[in-house]
Amino acid sequence: MALQLGDDVPDFTAETTEGPIKFFDYLGSGWGVLFSHPKDFTPVCTTELGRVSALKPEFDKRNVKVLGLSVDALDSHKGWANDIHETQGHALNFPLIADHDKKVANLYGMIHPNASDTFTVRSVFVIGPDKKLKLTLTYPASTGRNFDELLRVIDSLQLTAKHKVATPSDWKQGGDVIIVPSVNDNDAKALFPDGWKTVKPYLRVVPQPKS
Ligand code: BEZ
Repeated sequence: MALQLGDDVPDFTAETTEGPIKFFDYLGSGWGVLFSHPKDFTPVCTTELGRVSALKPEFDKRNVKVLGLSVDALDSHKGWANDIHETQGHALNFPLIADHDKKVANLYGMIHPNASDTFTVRSVFVIGPDKKLKLTLTYPASTGRNFDELLRVIDSLQLTAKHKVATPSDWKQGGDVIIVPSVNDNDAKALFPDGWKTVKPYLRVVPQPKS
């Protein structure tokens, strides 16, 4: 069965552009993003890998380790990395798995046979420090992902892991948040001593908690 939110994610070993990796050792005690690409030397994937390389400092700031995957061999990845640097202006600065036997792709359900039985779809898995699955995204080959959105959801995941809040539609870092329904008004007084705005009894808005 496909991995679902809250599941323990499977560990694996893999060849990558930065040498062999044991996934959980690579993640350490922080957060992780594992994301797949349909194929090397394809246009959309080239832009995506350039974009994630440009955003690497943003992932680092959030203590998130990034790991890409494409089902081609290591030699192919190395040649493609030159193109990514040349065309996108950013060198590949995180490991890319050479999953030529589709071991990791199958383990994580990245191949959707009714879309393609040879290529992976554009899967994204966000993994928490507890090695549980926090978020998945699945895009078709024809649509490049929005990595600013990925950073936004990571901000939400990290905030809501720490505080008893949820983030509203289109929330961005610094925006107001919502007190989770499981916290009653009495308990909310201790958690949010500066108060909140009750729009409806179930919709209580509060400034984003600091740190
Ligand atoms: C691409 O990355 O550009 C791509 C890959 C497979 C099918 C279509 C587009």
